[in-house]
This record gives sequence, C-alpha cells and structure tokens, in this order.
Amino acid sequence: MEFNETELKKAFGSFATGVAVATSHSSGFTINSFSSLSLKPPLIIFNIYKTETDHVDFLKNGSFIINFLSSDQEDVSKLFATKDSDKVSKVDHFVSDKKNIILNDTLAHIELTVFQQIDIADHVLVIGEVKDLKIHSDKEPLIYYRSKYQTLTFDV
Ligand SMILES: Cc1cc2nc3c(=O)[nH]c(=O)nc-3n(C[C@H](O)[C@H](O)[C@H](O)COP(=O)(O)O)c2cc1C
Repeated sequence: MEFNETELKKAFGSFATGVAVATSHSSGFTINSFSSLSLKPPLIIFNIYKTETDHVDFLKNGSFIINFLSSDQEDVSKLFATKDSDKVSKVDHFVSDKKNIILNDTLAHIELTVFQQIDIADHVLVIGEVKDLKIHSDKEPLIYYRSKYQTLTFDV
C-alpha cells in the first residue's frame, strides 16, 4: 500500500479532536494529542514535538496544566500554536499553588504531575497523573478537524 505525507495527514486529521493548551511554570502550547488513559489511577497522555517545544523546560517542575478550550477560544489556540515568547501575558490567567499557569474562560482544566515520559523518535509521550481539576463552564468545545477549527451543534 502506498501513500504520501499529504494523504497520511488527511487520514490522521479525519479523527476530530478537542483542542487544549498545555501550560506549566512559564509558558504553554496548543495540543490536540490529549487522550484520557485511565480512571484508577487517573491518567492522561499527550505528546510533545521535541523539535518545536523545549520539553525539558516545560516539564522542569514535574507538573503541568491541561486547559480545555471552548468554541470562543480559537484565538487562544492560534496564539499558543505560535513561537511568541510572551504569549502567556496576552491572555487572562492565574497561577496555581504549584506555580502553574491556568488560563481563564476555559471549559475545564486539570493539574497533573508527570507519571511517566517515553521518548519516541522526535516526540516525547507524557503520561500525567491528575492531582486537581476544575470544571468552569458548559460552553461548547473547540473542535479541530482536517486542519480546520470547527464547532459542534448540540442536539438539545
Ligand atoms: C490544533 C493544534 C494541535 C497541536 N497539537 C500539538 C501536540 O499535540 N503536541 C505538540 O507538541 N505540538 C502540537 N501543536 C503544535 C504546537 O502548538 C506548536 O509547535 C507551538 O508553536 C509550540 O509552542 P512553543 O514553541 O512555544 O513550545 C499543535 C498545534 C495546533 C494548531
């Protein structure tokens, strides 16, 4: 079976995801590789593209936040997908007791410690253990599908 990179990207992108921003002590970046992994213990997994993000600095304190974005936070997702060194100061946020940055106006956030990290080629898979969580709103989620932002239409 033969396929090119464009076809591979389109096939992978056919799996619609939510959008989150991973933050820690000083900065953050947009992710859609988040997945829940286990309830007992409460684990999640996501990946960091090592050539783009300084994963050593990001994981320096051994804890981090996953901020789940709402449909009105497309601009936040775009900002945190840039190399802007000052992105955190451009959004409303607060700081947790563990000194992690938490974004305002999200659907929910979870605070985690690093349970395990696994190097695979140019990515590091991070398994996080949930230590705290807060659900903020029942707004609609931001969706990413085939390289475009989308929103859901709920049946109510
Ligand atoms: C929708 C979307 C999903 C992304 N998912 C990931 C991801 O799961 N892991 C990752 O390392 N980068 C992901 N990125 C790319 C990073 O957000 C991007 O490389 C960012 O510039 C990194 O910021 P930094 O250089 O300040 O670390 C994603 C980007 C977008 C737009």
